[in-house]
Amino acid sequence: MDAQQPPPAALLAWYDRHRRDLPWRVPPGVRSDAYVVWLSEIMLQQTTVAAVAPYFRRILARWPSVAALAAAPLDELLAAWAGLGYYARARNLHRAARQVVARHGGQFPAETEALRALPGVGAYTAAAIAAIAFDRSVVPVDGNVERVVARLFAVAEPLPRARAALRAKAGALAPAVRAGDFAQALMDLGATVCTPRRPRCESCPWADACAGRRLGLAEALPARAPRPERPLRRGVAFWIERADGAVLLRRRPESGLLGGMLEVPSSEWRARRWGLAEAAAAAPLALAWQALPGKVTHTFTHFRLELSVLTGRLDRGGGVVGTWLRPEELAAAALPSLMRKVAAHARAGLAAAGQVLRSRRGRSESSRAAGRWG
Ligand code: ADE
Repeated sequence: MDAQQPPPAALLAWYDRHRRDLPWRVPPGVRSDAYVVWLSEIMLQQTTVAAVAPYFRRILARWPSVAALAAAPLDELLAAWAGLGYYARARNLHRAARQVVARHGGQFPAETEALRALPGVGAYTAAAIAAIAFDRSVVPVDGNVERVVARLFAVAEPLPRARAALRAKAGALAPAVRAGDFAQALMDLGATVCTPRRPRCESCPWADACAGRRLGLAEALPARAPRPERPLRRGVAFWIERADGAVLLRRRPESGLLGGMLEVPSSEWRARRWGLAEAAAAAPLALAWQALPGKVTHTFTHFRLELSVLTGRLDRGGGVVGTWLRPEELAAAALPSLMRKVAAHARAGLAAAGQVLRSRRGRSESSRAAGRWG
């Protein structure tokens, strides 16, 4: 069945009445400032609107122009970003601000290709900036927009295979005028009406044009191919405590998974199991390691991870590359959730080991625990 083309005017009229009031949005008819749009779009990558809003207000108030941001010390930006996660975004933001000043005279380019050349700007973000700040007739396509389009046209082919077709259909929806409002209207429709579960079709401005609704398929779309089983990787995390209770953390390399974020020092993550001796050789320090029972598990997009935890005590610090954080500092630090799990596991394991030791009146448990590991 051929789906009727959904009318942009209906979505725009809905947006004028129901749009979310967000701190980076300007009133209807006013052109958005490219710096504000770029800043908000980078902050919104992988992060919810609710989490971003207070950070966005603070950062914009402190650095109200791309020139001001480019002139800021990176450490100040990172400090203002603390708690928002994905710190590579803040580093890229800073690099991109400097490029806009150095290569574009402080003016953001308007075309998606030139925008994509800026650090941290991918296809979605480039399209969002081109549409919202420059009214270019393009549609930024993320998972929300894919869902809306799959339903509108009753695309039964599963994701990820359907992705290119969904993008093409989304692109063809872009109106010649008010492209920025149209892009944000699609975002709002996906977030508030065309939701993954229980879509509110009765409130949808495109209900009449929606083939998915007509066929009773809306909630079931988009279809997804079953994911291939994620492979398992294994690693070892080293929980190192000083006599005053501070714990050693270090920063991960900027590129790669959890780039630039704090971690409990860890070995490489690989398929093969780790033996105690080779794990100790991979540790940042030579200590009398105690192995904790159990593992920390975490699922990333492309693999599952199992971390064993070795604990060690260091009575005198010094010569160690990293940062010592006290328990209250650790609680406030921006740790990725994997590392929060490691911290919780280490604490619980050490507390349990302490209880065993006390109940056995001081008989050493450490050699037994080490023997069990592997
Ligand atoms: N998600 C990404 N960009 C957005 C925007 N401009 N408004 C609302 N949600 C968004």
